Amino acid sequence: MAKSHATFVCQSCGAVYNRWKGKCEACGGWNTVVEESGAGPLAGPAATRPSRAKGRVFTLEGLAGETHDAPRTPSGLAELDRVTGGGFVRGSVILIGGDPGIGKSTLLIQACAALAGAGQRVVYISGEEAVAQVRLRAERLGIGAVPVELAAETNVEDIVATLSQGRPPALAVIDSIQTMWTETVESAPGTVTQVRGSAQALIRFAKTTGAAVILVGHVTKDGQIAGPRVVEHMVDAVVSFEGDTGHHFRILRAVKNRFGPTDEIGVFEMTDRGLAEVPNPSELFLASRDHGTAGTAVFAGMEGTRPLLVEIQALVAPTSLGTPRRAVVGWDPARLSMVLAVLEAHGGLRLGMHDVYLNVAGGLRIAEPAADLAAAAALVSSLSNSPLPADTVYFGEIGLSGAIRPVTQMQARLKEAAKLGFGQAVGPNIRGEKGERPLPGAVSLGHIADLVAAVASSRPRPKPLLQAREG
Ligand code: TYD
Ligand code: MG
Repeated sequence: MAKSHATFVCQSCGAVYNRWKGKCEACGGWNTVVEESGAGPLAGPAATRPSRAKGRVFTLEGLAGETHDAPRTPSGLAELDRVTGGGFVRGSVILIGGDPGIGKSTLLIQACAALAGAGQRVVYISGEEAVAQVRLRAERLGIGAVPVELAAETNVEDIVATLSQGRPPALAVIDSIQTMWTETVESAPGTVTQVRGSAQALIRFAKTTGAAVILVGHVTKDGQIAGPRVVEHMVDAVVSFEGDTGHHFRILRAVKNRFGPTDEIGVFEMTDRGLAEVPNPSELFLASRDHGTAGTAVFAGMEGTRPLLVEIQALVAPTSLGTPRRAVVGWDPARLSMVLAVLEAHGGLRLGMHDVYLNVAGGLRIAEPAADLAAAAALVSSLSNSPLPADTVYFGEIGLSGAIRPVTQMQARLKEAAKLGFGQAVGPNIRGEKGERPLPGAVSLGHIADLVAAVASSRPRPKPLLQAREG
């Protein structure tokens, strides 16, 4: 019989201690360790199973053998299916994480409606909103008449018992995992142990019935609420829903996926009638572009298998501070420092007396090193006040030696640029397939100094407005 004794669990990362600590040694969070009774990390079926003298012998199988594709149910939302890898896999569990208010409930009720509209059994369990509230939202989204089964419940045992009745649902949405509680665990709802125990019960339900289950998890910076990170390793896929409330588009990104790719993104736009899919995001990200201003460059990027054109904006201005300011939104600050250092060391620029601001337009976050060249072009353009040609895209990774290095999928980037009417591309040795030119103007650069020279030679255009203001 397991002895019940108090354990101390970090509410942010799930680390377990046998005494209280002010600072969690595992994640470094302050004041996140809370006493929880009788539930170590082993609570669950393993802890309650009677001990046996001998284990059961099972057959081991070879790696070569029969396989079949995971049976999938497409959701009907193309952008969602792109991220999951073609639809929900039967018996799989997906965790959708995101800031509160970003649109998780909206996205999922829309997915539920699409699936239910196709004749599947779909259940939506809300632990946060009353049934009437969910109905009201569905009505506003114009999907009020679709046969989605609703309930406002938080007890996992009751939910599993209800879902197990009749035909197993194709999809069950649990909104959110932080509000769920299970009787097998003593601690209060919202604690790490409860979140983990509830997730375990729901995962078992998915595996035994073949229903796809989606768990919603709020991610907050506040350590008081148990982060859904503690269940990340238990689920089949982790998807994050991102965006900032100041912009109306939202990005769905797979962080982990046992049944599909993890580098695909789905792009949605929040409208007054819910989330609309954006099949061609480049058009959206370039829609409000400033033509003919110094300090902007269009980056031909890739998100998974999809090319994505986005504007990078830079502002380089003389500083009034002892230590110049460097601020960056949507890109890695360490990469900005590196690009600035290379521009100084190998491009002959002097940036020590300048503040530098860099922004990826539209609230997108870029992680690709291929954005180096576009960022550098925007910086040089701003410093020299020479606008870059409006019909040019940039891509390429910059090495510490100043060399511009090739990046992956150059053809896809060039094709997307051509499709959106760009006539020129600047990057590392651009060559078309079988030697043909992908764009009328393709400029191959080998070194960062070539970029500086190219931008400087595209002489500053006189800007009447600016000059009038200056004079
Ligand atoms: P919600 O799905 O409730 O967020 P979450 O479940 O992630 O907490 O979305 C809430 C926000 O979305 C809210 O601030 C209002 C906005 N919204 C719209 O702009 N249009 C709509 O049609 C809906 C339903 C919500
Ligand atoms: Mg919600």
